Formats: sequence, structure tokens, C-alpha cells
Amino acid sequence: MKTNLSLTAGILMLIHVPLTAQVNTTSQPGVVDLTRLANYANQTKPVYIARTNTPVNNQITDAGATLGRVMFYDKRLSRNSTVSCASCHQQANAFGDTAVASVGVNGTTGRHSMRLVNAGFATETRFFWDERAATLELQTTQPIRDHVEMGFSGTLGDPAFADLVTRLTAIPEYHVMFAMTFGTATITEARIQNSLAQFVRSIQSFDSKYDVGRAQVPDNQPFPNFTNQENAGKALFLNPPGPGGGAGCAGCHVPPEFAIDPNSRNNGVTASLGGGTDLTNTRSPSLRDMVGPNGKSNGPFMHHGGQATIADVINHYNLIPGDNTNLDPRLRRPGGAVQNLNLSQQQKDQLAAFLRTLTGSAVYTDAKWSNPFTASNELSLIILPENATTVTKNANNTLTLTCQAAPNLTYRMESSTNLKDWTLVEQVAVGTTGLIERTVPITGTSTFYRFTYTP
Ligand code: HEC
Ligand code: HEC
Repeated sequence: MKTNLSLTAGILMLIHVPLTAQVNTTSQPGVVDLTRLANYANQTKPVYIARTNTPVNNQITDAGATLGRVMFYDKRLSRNSTVSCASCHQQANAFGDTAVASVGVNGTTGRHSMRLVNAGFATETRFFWDERAATLELQTTQPIRDHVEMGFSGTLGDPAFADLVTRLTAIPEYHVMFAMTFGTATITEARIQNSLAQFVRSIQSFDSKYDVGRAQVPDNQPFPNFTNQENAGKALFLNPPGPGGGAGCAGCHVPPEFAIDPNSRNNGVTASLGGGTDLTNTRSPSLRDMVGPNGKSNGPFMHHGGQATIADVINHYNLIPGDNTNLDPRLRRPGGAVQNLNLSQQQKDQLAAFLRTLTGSAVYTDAKWSNPFTASNELSLIILPENATTVTKNANNTLTLTCQAAPNLTYRMESSTNLKDWTLVEQVAVGTTGLIERTVPITGTSTFYRFTYTP
């Protein structure tokens, strides 16, 4: 895998004021511009979205999420450099997989891959179908440590997680991005976890038809932008079963995030992918983006991927197929019988129509969540901008040179009188803003200045 670091130097001549024109490099394939980070930290979200599982000590930063993005798509995080997080969590499928089981470095997964859209907007802090990860941070390195998925398990002939740290430490791009994010270039499991979790939590989708309606009126009123069928489906989703005649979905898939209720138990799905039963699954991804903007399914659904379509899901809840010891009481009727909603075909279609209004569009195409590598796995980082140093003439016969560079790195400021031989003026350590600002005297002879970086 070839990678290269673009060590662009801003060269200035004292007499001429250089161009400040900027090329838009942020969405160029194979290029990550660290001098102009994409916005992950201050994305707009609707006012009614309040649930979050972001811990106070791992708030999203643009630098951290950018590092997380690169790692999410980097196949070198797997034992034989063939599998990345994105192999099983694909942007085109709402960061899930349309295969029932996903392919890892040593076979296929034991459960269906989960869509990651809006994973951060929930009160549930635990992750995985069976909630075995206490936080998203702790979740993120489990696939790397998994023998089947990415193969740094340290058992069964696999390299250990420490070997991955050694591998990443030898890659100059990671040296730069860890320093940029954390202040020093040291790579630790906790830093990998924090940045991957920041990227995953940044993946948000709030531009659906549902959001257009919800921005105007509360859930319990008909949405002006909905069809009658969609409004009827919304009422079925929200209302509990019984005299009101609802389907009771909102009790466990809580709007407006449609995130799982932390107290949910088993939902009547008992089959396991490998055969046998599995009653441990009490978490669901957000029900947003079950289909893509073109209506194409992002399923199959449930931990065993056993329900291919939304219609299959609705048939499941309409008549829970059997009892089990962990079945959630909300799926029982008074007296203890398992749920039989007796929905008509028209009601099932209404519910399905409503579920399809929960689909956004930007999350499928926004470059900030896309693969930063080229098809041949190349990646260039821009650390110093090309042609983007500005020069200001001051009253006291000095010039101020300003340059937006990547944060938390140390640059060399060099000068030359012939553009061939360069001498170090000073090392410039830039802080979290990444802004280089230096004042130089205007002298009789022409002097050239440049900023350079060596990892
Ligand atoms: C080989 C396929 C595969 C790879 C590679 C993979 N995952 Fe997953 N991911 C899955 C499957 C399958 C599940 C559900 C597993 C379970 O619950 O037992 C899952 C679950 C998750 C969840 C839980 C979501 C939730 O709502 O609870 C997150 C977060 C996640 N993966 C992130 C990642 C990250 C980050 C990486 C890369 C470091 C990654 N995955 C690599 C297949 C994969
Ligand atoms: C008692 C809580 C509960 C209720 C009520 C409930 N669900 Fe679920 N739902 C769950 C749990 C838990 C899962 C994950 C189960 C699994 O995969 O084993 C789930 C999974 C799903 C999934 C699969 C999500 C995915 O990404 O694969 C869909 C779709 C879904 N539910 C829709 C509905 C609808 C529609 C209703 C109302 C008719 C409903 N649910 C009612 C708890 C509930």
C-alpha cells in the first residue's frame, strides 16, 4: 500500500505579495487536507434531538473525527490489510451491510452487521446487539481484536493488538494525525478508541421527510408534509397496542431519534445465525435509514439478518412467533399471551410507509464520511497549504506572514536569499489552531521565507 505525505511549502518573496487563492482539496479522492478540516464538531442538528451517549471526556473534534475517518477506512487495521471497518459498514448502505453475514479476515461474522447512522443519538450507552460493550469507545477496538473480523486477537496464530500499534506507529500519516489530535504522536489503544468513536458518533442523518414534518408539529399531530397513509402509519407506530389499536413500536424504538429504549428485552427474534437460539439481543440500531433515499433496502434486519424486508419485520411484530424466557413484557398481552396485533394489510402498509419517511439523504454522499483513500489505497495529507500564506505590511517596516497549517505540529521556518540554500530561522510550534504567524523585518536585500514540515 502506497501512501505519501504532501509536504507543501509556502514560499514567499518579500517584495511580491503572493497569491492567496485556494484550491478546494477537501473532496478530492485520496487527499485529506488537514489545514482545512471538515466540520464534524459543530454540525447542525434539529432542536428536538436531545438524546446522546457522548461522554464528557470524548467530545467530537474535527481533528479527532478526521483521524477516525482515516482509520475507519484503512485496511491496514486488519491483520492481512484486506478488511477495514468500512468493509462491513458501508456508507452506501447507511453504514451497514446488505449481506446477512459480513466477510472478515478469517471467515464470516456470527451476527448481522449493524447500521451506524445516528449511533450517538441515544440514551443507551452500551453497544452491539447484545450490549456487551459498555461504551462506544470500548466497542471500537473489539472488531480489530476479533479473530474473524480484523484478526489482531493475539490468539489462534493472530498478531496481538500491540503489533497493530507498532504497525501504525511506523506510518508517517498517523504520526501527523495523532500529534494533530492529541498533542503528541504516541499511539495507544485509548486514542484509537476515542478517535474511531468520534467519527462513528459524527455520522448523523436528520434530513428525512420525517424531520421536515417534525420541525413543524409534534409527533402526536398529523404532519403537514405527510400523506394520509404516512400519518396513519405514524399513529400506529406511536400508539400502544390495546383499545387505541396501535402497534406499540415507539415504546422500544423511541422517537424522534428512533433509538432503542435501554430497558428493552428480547423482541421475539430467537434464532441465531450459526443455528440454535440466541436470546441475548436487546439492542437495535436506530430505525432511521432502513432504506436508502432511492427506496433500496439497507437490510436485511435483526441480529440474524433473518428478515429481508420491512414487510417481514412488521409481520414478525404483528404475530410474535413464539414465547421465550427473556421476551419483553411489552410484547405480551394481559394474561401473558404473546402479542398478536391483528393488523390489516392496509395498516401494515401504513406502518411500512411511515418507516420509509425516516430516511435521509446527505449521509449517503457527504464526502466527510466517505473513503479518503483512492481505489489503489493511496492517501495524501496536506499539512501546509499551497499558495495560502498571506503577507501583511505593517507600519513599522515589518511584514507579518500568516499561514493556516495543521494543528499541534512543529514547523521549520527557513529563509534563503537565492532560493537554493535554506537556513533555519526558527522552529515554530503551532497550537490547536494550527495558525502560523511570524513577523519579519523589511531589509535592503530580498529574502525568501518558507515553512516546511518533516514528520
Ligand atoms: C467483518 C465485518 C465487520 C468489521 C470489519 C467491523 N464490523 Fe462493526 N459490526 C459488525 C457486526 C457483525 C456487528 C454486530 C456484532 C454483534 O453485535 O455481535 C457490528 C457492530 C458494530 C457496532 C455496534 C453498533 C451498535 O449500534 O451497537 C459499531 C459501533 C461498529 N460495529 C463499529 C465498527 C468499527 C469502528 C469497526 C472498525 C474498527 C468495525 N465495526 C469493523 C461487523 C463488522
Ligand atoms: C419490546 C421492545 C420492542 C418493541 C415493542 C418493538 N421492537 Fe423492534 N426491536 C427490538 C429489539 C430488542 C430489536 C433487536 C432484536 C434482534 O435483532 O434480535 C429490534 C429490532 C427491530 C428492527 C431491526 C433493526 C435492524 O437494524 O435490523 C426493526 C426494523 C424493528 N425492530 C422495528 C419495530 C417495529 C416496526 C415495531 C412495532 C411494530 C417494533 N420494532 C417494536 C425491540 C422492540
